[in-house]
Amino acid sequence: MSGSDEPTAGAQQQAHERYEQQQKAIEQRADEIEHIILVMSGKGGVGKSTVAVNLAWALALGGESVGLLDADLHGPNTALMTGTQNTRLGMRDNLMQPAIAAHGLKVVSMAMLLDDRDTPTIWRGPLRANVLRQFIAEVDWGQLDYLIVDLPPGTGDEPLTIAQSFPGADGVIIVTTPQQVSQDDCRKAINFARQLELPVIGVIENMSGFVCPHCGKETAIFSQGGGEIMASEMGVPYLGALPLAPEIVSLCDSGRPLADQQAPQAVRDTFANVVGNINNQIVRQKS
Ligand SMILES: Nc1ncnc2c1ncn2[C@@H]1O[C@H](COP(=O)(O)OP(=O)(O)O)[C@@H](O)[C@H]1O
Ligand SMILES: [Mg+2]
Ligand SMILES: [Zn+2]
Repeated sequence: MSGSDEPTAGAQQQAHERYEQQQKAIEQRADEIEHIILVMSGKGGVGKSTVAVNLAWALALGGESVGLLDADLHGPNTALMTGTQNTRLGMRDNLMQPAIAAHGLKVVSMAMLLDDRDTPTIWRGPLRANVLRQFIAEVDWGQLDYLIVDLPPGTGDEPLTIAQSFPGADGVIIVTTPQQVSQDDCRKAINFARQLELPVIGVIENMSGFVCPHCGKETAIFSQGGGEIMASEMGVPYLGALPLAPEIVSLCDSGRPLADQQAPQAVRDTFANVVGNINNQIVRQKS
């Protein structure tokens, strides 16, 4: 009997030891990071990556040392958005070296491990969880003031893996569009954070209103104000709104920050206001 059982038990023991080692490495990395912020949304396509990338860049431009972890393994868009899509992760001392984007921002994304960006990553849950844990344990993040994590949409396995890896995170930022369907999913994301005892830093309403470049009139394409109402109903802070602006698409696609001089002043101002509110919220939570 024992002949067939023993190797299995041995392999299990080995796997367990590897997991424990990895857990230790994750805790060591987290110890060197002052603030960890997770960016979530109920749905995809609402601007979660746009917010994560630009929050990271805004902090880096303010002189902080910042890392950006792209935890969206199926849609690893932060590489393109930070202009690092042609970088491949190098190795030094057995650790992956993050790509360095403009303003010294350190970026790690699945896109930097793939040779062909059109090929989907088809992995089962446990394998995805392991890759995410490696992205923390086996990356040379170094000392960071902030690590911003761009989570995949929803409240599935990956947000859970990340939340469990960073129990001491400052909290989550929830990005929604003004439509009812997006808000309904965001309520789930807020409850997810609560169940895991992660503070909710606040809600951002993205794609809120469009100012016509021809006549200057504002149109609420996806309606407006729902994010603020939802935040107040759920008893979480509201961080502000970002307008729908075609320039945001071109800045994102060309890997440049919203703080870029070419971005419209209104976009720069509103985003700076959101970042200010996030900072205030983090300071308030710590005190
Ligand atoms: N406020 C906005 N105005 C115009 N386009 C936006 C805005 N926010 C995001 N986008 C664009 O919408 C698309 C989806 O945004 P993204 O950040 O990738 O969403 P998610 O990460 O939630 O799937 C991108 O092409 C992005 O450039
Ligand atoms: Mg995304
Ligand atoms: Zn018009």
